[in-house]
Amino acid sequence: MNKKTMISMAVIRRLPKYQRYLGELLNNDITRISSKELSERIGFTASQIRQDLNCFGDFGQQGYGYNVRELYDEISKILGLTRTYTTVIIGAGNIGQAVANYSKFEKLGFELKGIFDKNPKLIGIKIRDIEVKDVDELSDFLERNKIDIGIICVPRTQAQVIADIFVKSGIKAIWNFAPTDLNVPEDVIVENVHLSESLLTLSYRLNEAKLFGEE
Ligand code: NAI
Repeated sequence: MNKKTMISMAVIRRLPKYQRYLGELLNNDITRISSKELSERIGFTASQIRQDLNCFGDFGQQGYGYNVRELYDEISKILGLTRTYTTVIIGAGNIGQAVANYSKFEKLGFELKGIFDKNPKLIGIKIRDIEVKDVDELSDFLERNKIDIGIICVPRTQAQVIADIFVKSGIKAIWNFAPTDLNVPEDVIVENVHLSESLLTLSYRLNEAKLFGEE
């Protein structure tokens, strides 16, 4: 079996962190780094790093460390960052505007092509030079424009409606901010972003010691 097909989700979830740290090393003109040094910067153990990076090639040379550029390029390739992606945001409220205003996504290759809402007060306003359109025009827009990723920032009760429009128009990847599980066909990927889950994990960890009587 191809090595890449065996990469686990746990490793994939760590790749963006490797990519970010390796990018910083390159910016600082660091061309080689040992797994021990990388471990000190990134916070994973050296053996975890060796194990992770072994999943997709032989980058480390015993005694020489990793070639930072090679590793950065390979991880970028695995993360699909060697091409650009077109996106639309549905829901131009708090979250929708925050996502739209974050220019770093564009630098990573995610190009925002349209923002849609149903509120007449928002339709027509501009967010980073993109005019918010009426959601009634969404299906037409998706027919005329090739969109790779649909971003859902509407209330929970409306999320499935929007997901259905995405699916019908052939979108294969959905970034879902609404706190609900979407029903989509198997060939459509959904990545949920739930800040509250992260916050609850934090509160659990804050109370972990008490729970297990370690205080
Ligand atoms: P908001 O009320 O500021 O914005 C929602 C926008 O969606 C409004 O502008 C509204 O007019 C629009 N909308 C409603 N139905 C629509 C439809 N059928 N088509 C197009 N536009 C429609 O709400 P906010 O704070 O931006 O939250 C948006 C979503 O994100 C909610 O589902 C909320 O629960 C969720 N959320 C998620 C977080 C996360 O961690 N993922 C954190 C905070 C909120």
